[in-house]
Amino acid sequence: MSTTTTIDLAAEIRRLAASKNAVILAHNYERPDVQDVADFVGDSLGLSQQAAKTDAKIIVFCGVHFMAETASILAPDKKVLIPDLNAGCSLAATITAEDLRKWKAEHPGAVVVSYVNTTAEVKAETDYCCTSSNAVKVIEAIPAEKEILFCPDMFLGAYVKKMTGRKNIRVWAGECHVHAGIRPADIEAKRAEHPAADFLIHPECGCVSSLLYIKGEQSGQQTCMTDAKVLSTEGMMNYAKNAPAKEFIIATETGILHRMKKFNPAKNFFPVSEHAVCQFMKLITLQKVFNALEREQFEVKVPAAIGDKARLSIERMIAIV
Ligand code: 13P
Ligand code: SF4
Repeated sequence: MSTTTTIDLAAEIRRLAASKNAVILAHNYERPDVQDVADFVGDSLGLSQQAAKTDAKIIVFCGVHFMAETASILAPDKKVLIPDLNAGCSLAATITAEDLRKWKAEHPGAVVVSYVNTTAEVKAETDYCCTSSNAVKVIEAIPAEKEILFCPDMFLGAYVKKMTGRKNIRVWAGECHVHAGIRPADIEAKRAEHPAADFLIHPECGCVSSLLYIKGEQSGQQTCMTDAKVLSTEGMMNYAKNAPAKEFIIATETGILHRMKKFNPAKNFFPVSEHAVCQFMKLITLQKVFNALEREQFEVKVPAAIGDKARLSIERMIAIV
């Protein structure tokens, strides 16, 4: 698409959004032109908070399906649209509500903490929702003697276990293929290339937990972790803005680099891996955002019976953080 066409389409999208009283929300991993057309760009928690407080009639959610569902749970009276229904999440797909019911039956009395990357049905079976920015705080708020079932991300689970020191947390063996694909070797190579750069890493990355557990026998890996900042995508954005450093190595999906560079033009950002690309996020194109608005497609509506239960798990999280 030529630049002129992109600008025309973006202008048409803004015109349609205004005439239909729609708000456009985009996750930090979206394509640059989709981020640029949005009213708000942020992490999963920030976007769901925007969805909860908007006065708009329509929410166009440029993100993946569970995020649009979360918007529908928090704003049940709004029309929530996702520009491509195939925008799923490999991590959310690792656990179904049926799986969780079986797991709960095996551990009666355990408290369920689910990462926001889960379906509405799974959230409805959950006691506390959490996000990458507040998982440790949520776990710390649960009485120490209570057994916890944490799902679905095993790396975030290992990270919270390590940070809280709790032994009574059982962790579901799910992972995000994008973050699991970021290896310690990628990090070591990038850090050797840019030794003065601050190193920011998302807790879904497979190497976070392995690096945390390594106590220094392997010097390269220890170097990776000693000064790493483990942050959610919006946490990374804030850190990049406020830190005095001029260079940053980023271990998460590469889409976040667009906004980091845009708001910090005097700083340099290096992705740990150019291959860390979420193909689900990238399914959302400017043309599909336009189609979604014009045709008011594709609606994501969580049934009230599920949404009301799922909302409780999110409200319990919000009460803690
Ligand atoms: P954030 O909540 O940090 O934006 O992460 C969401 C996600 O899907 C990470 O892969
Ligand atoms: Fe899901 Fe991973 Fe894509 Fe995030 S990056 S939306 S966890 S598949």
